[in-house]
Amino acid sequence: MLSNVRATSFAVGNFKNSAKLVTPGLCQARSSHTDLKVPDFSDVRHPATLDPTTPTSEERRKLFKYMVLGSAASAGAVLAKGIVRGSVNHFAPSKSALEVASIEVETSKIPEGKSLVVTWLGKPIFIRHKTDAEIEEQKAVDVSSLRDPVPDVDRFPDLRWQVLIGVCTHLGCIPIEGKGDFGGYYCPCHGSHYDFAGRIRKGPAPKNLEVPPHRISGDLLIIG
Ligand code: FES
Repeated sequence: MLSNVRATSFAVGNFKNSAKLVTPGLCQARSSHTDLKVPDFSDVRHPATLDPTTPTSEERRKLFKYMVLGSAASAGAVLAKGIVRGSVNHFAPSKSALEVASIEVETSKIPEGKSLVVTWLGKPIFIRHKTDAEIEEQKAVDVSSLRDPVPDVDRFPDLRWQVLIGVCTHLGCIPIEGKGDFGGYYCPCHGSHYDFAGRIRKGPAPKNLEVPPHRISGDLLIIG
């Protein structure tokens, strides 16, 4: 075995020496090295590497690594997809929540001059079907002198239908309808007085009672 290796070194050395002596043209002609005798290392090679068509153990190890990495990447992608989908489903509103996101009230059920309280998104909603006299009285108030000076025409799409969220704008108590110094809504928690149009007149509340998004469609009052 050792003698074979030495013989090979000698042959290669000879070849290098002889290559320096030839002309460039000849060198190009011999660049494919077809005349080189390739030494046979079969007797010193590992049996697993003798067949060039069979992957070596190193190649097999790499293949295994790639396979493991590929599987892990696929599993990670599936897991990430599941997490994202779960998060989206978790934070999306439920079907029942979407159903109550808007409610419909039949206006014919509320006579003129009467009120109705409904619940929307867990909050009380004060609905009042106003009379002409109430509307005139409401319009006569100069809101510029009030704490929250928003004109009522900007608060309500239709003055005949007064729709208010029944939550005090101070700290969130529920005011009592028909009470207080201004005949509107009174919050007993800290003594806020709203007038009949839900405008803050007295007490610690900073804002008028909020108006929820609503509209009239035919015989229906749609809130939400
Ligand atoms: S919560 Fe209504 S006055 Fe304080």
